[in-house]
Formats: sequence, C-alpha cells, structure tokens
Amino acid sequence: MKLLVTGGAGFIGPHFIRHVLQKYPTYSVVNVDKLTYAGNLENLRDVEADPRYRFVHGDICEAAAVREAARGVDAILNFAAESHVDRSILGADEFLKTDVVGTFTLLEAARELKIPRYVQVSTDEVYGSIDRGAFRESAPPKPTNPYSATKAGADLLVSAYWTTHRLPVLITRSSNNFGPNQYPEKVIPLFITNALEDRPLPLYGDGKNVRDWLYVVDNCAAIDLVLRAGVPGEIYNIGGGTEVENIVLTRQILRLLGKPESLIQRVTDRPGHDRRYALDCHKIRALGWKPGHDFGAALAETVRWYREHEAWWRPIKSGEFKAYYARQYVDRA
Ligand code: NAD
Ligand code: DAU
Repeated sequence: MKLLVTGGAGFIGPHFIRHVLQKYPTYSVVNVDKLTYAGNLENLRDVEADPRYRFVHGDICEAAAVREAARGVDAILNFAAESHVDRSILGADEFLKTDVVGTFTLLEAARELKIPRYVQVSTDEVYGSIDRGAFRESAPPKPTNPYSATKAGADLLVSAYWTTHRLPVLITRSSNNFGPNQYPEKVIPLFITNALEDRPLPLYGDGKNVRDWLYVVDNCAAIDLVLRAGVPGEIYNIGGGTEVENIVLTRQILRLLGKPESLIQRVTDRPGHDRRYALDCHKIRALGWKPGHDFGAALAETVRWYREHEAWWRPIKSGEFKAYYARQYVDRA
C-alpha cells in the first residue's frame, strides 16, 4: 500500500509514518509538508533513509503539487493543519488557507485521481464544549474558536464529498494528543520545558478546564485501523478516556520533575476557552481499538523524553517560539 501523508513533519504525522513503516514492510509513504514553524525534519531522522519513505516539500493548497504527489497512491491521510488554538486567536488567515482550502485541494485531487481512500485527521474540538456526558459522532459541530471552526469547516466539506461524489472518505476526531516531539506551544510540552527552565507555568483562568488525554502512538494505531477497517463516509471519535483538569495535570508535571508548585502562574483566560471535551468512543472500540497506554506512565515517559532531548526543544524555544509567545502575551494584556 502506498500512502500520501500530509503534514508528516509535525507532531502526530512522524509518529504515524514510523508506525506504518515499522508495522507494514510492504507499505511506502510520501510525506508532503510545507515545513511551517511546526514542521521539523528532525522528527523524521530515523525514517529518512528508509527507501520506502519520500519527503516532498510542498503546500497542500497548491493543486498541481498535490496532484503530482498523489498520483498512484492508495490513500491520502491529511494531517496537515494549522493546529494551535492560541495562534488562531492572534490571526486566522493561515488556518483558513491550510485547514479549509488545503483540505479542498486534497479532496479534489483524490476525486480526480480516483484515490481509493481519504482520511481526514480531525479533532474533538469541532463539537465544542460539553459540561456532562460525551459527544457521539452524530452530534452537530459547534466550534467556538477560529481553529476549531476551520477544522469543522473542513470536516463538513469532507462529508459533502462523500454525499455528493461518493469519494470514499473517513474522518477521525481525536482528543488531545501528547508525547515526544510535540511543539512546545501546546500545554504539556510548554509546561515541561518551562519547568525544566525554572520558568513560570502560565495556567489559564481557574485551571479547571478539562481535556481528555491520548498518547500519540495510540492515536496513530486508531488512525491506521480506520484507514484499513473504517466504513467510507463515517466519522470515528478517538478518545484517551483520561479526563484531567489542567491544574491537576500541571501539578502532576511538576511532581514528575521535582519542581515546586510556586512555578504555577495564574494568567488571564484564553478567550472562548472551551471548558471540557469528552468523546463517546463506542464506534472505534467496536472496530477493535482501545488506548494501549496508561496516562500516568505515558506522561512520565513524555517528561523523560523532554528531559533527555534538550537539543530538540531549546533551539525551538529560543527561536520562532520566543517571538510568538511574546506577541501572545502582549495581545492578551
Ligand atoms: P502540528 O501543528 O504539530 O503539525 C502540522 C504539520 O502540518 C506541520 O509539519 C506543518 O509544517 C504542516 N503544514 C502546515 N500547513 C501546511 C500546508 N499548507 N501544506 C503542507 N503542510 C502543512 O499538528 P499536529 O499536532 O501534528 O496535528 C496533526 C493533525 O491532527 C492536525 O490536523 C490537527 O488538527 C489534528 N489533531 C491534533 C491533535 C493534537 O492534540 N495535537 C488532536 C486532534 C487532532
Ligand atoms: O482537543 C484536541 C485539540 O487539542 C487539537 O485539535 C489541537 O490541535 C491541540 O492544540 C489541542 O487543543 P487545546 O487547546 O486543548 O490544547 P492546548 O495544549 O493549547 O491547551 C490545553 C489546555 O491547557 C487548554 O485548556 C488550555 C490550557 N493552557 C494551554 C496553554 C498553551 C493553559 O492553561 N496554559 C497554556 O499556556
């Protein structure tokens, strides 16, 4: 099987590429990535010499480049996106381009080239916040921030290509991923690396927002299963089943690092901050998936990875991230 993976140089993409190359000796992967601030070829060093892997530096909004890369593949998996909520609050242009227009460009290529399978990697954020219970796949999208709105727009377009064109699409909606190689703008790597630097951990609002954490390799196994066994036209929720309040998560990180709680700094809340995400995962479980990692052990492993890979995150934090972070706090003040 030959796969086109887009956005394969970010956080989840490299884990997925590694997963398929290790698990399936006959699979090959073409990875199209624009290498935005979030793309990092260091995340793929261990696979780059594999003859079954090929990297193409390209933008999913460019139709000709997409068509060229997609020719002859058995499936497209679209991981490429602008993915950080706080950045979408600062400015949403790139989110509209990549998340919506980029998805459209890929769908058109898939339609024209009659690609047998298209997987859209989406998010639980499209449902919006839920106080009690959990969202099923049939719940209507109710996104609340520019990032989730563009992801929801993309999902609607993907579903429309099934209804209208019978393009064999599948959508995965996962909860918050964490693990090695996550860009340190997201809360877990931000808090781990800030604590390692003895810097404050900026906790938004009352710290009681809840996220359902999913170890990244478990998400990759689920996406692989959806690719192979999912029913075209269907949506699959993928949740870790571990709901944690941000303040509890923050204390857990500090404990794992042996750092004091005095590093916690309460800051102004994120505008439009969703209170709680929760997914009903009966459908993906019926396909035979469940999370394979315990949250506490996976968090400890993630903390260990950042501790041992300063050479990966220090250049990021003193480079692009620094300017973004300063801008974010000036904007919110
Ligand atoms: P990421 O921001 O770490 O990586 C995104 C990748 O896409 C980067 O390599 C970037 O260079 C690339 N990219 C951006 N614009 C592009 C374009 N126009 N053309 C080609 N490549 C482009 O994101 P991630 O955390 O790895 O998330 C991957 C996907 O999973 C996204 O679609 C995201 O919405 C979704 N998702 C993420 C999470 C999470 O917790 N991280 C949870 C649910 C869903
Ligand atoms: O739910 C899936 C989504 O998870 C993905 O679709 C997104 O791509 C991914 O970025 C993530 O979105 P969140 O907004 O939930 O993740 P983030 O790491 O930005 O924030 C997690 C929680 O931590 C959230 O409640 C906000 C809070 N937070 C975040 C940051 C960056 C803080 O309290 N302080 C911070 O500095």
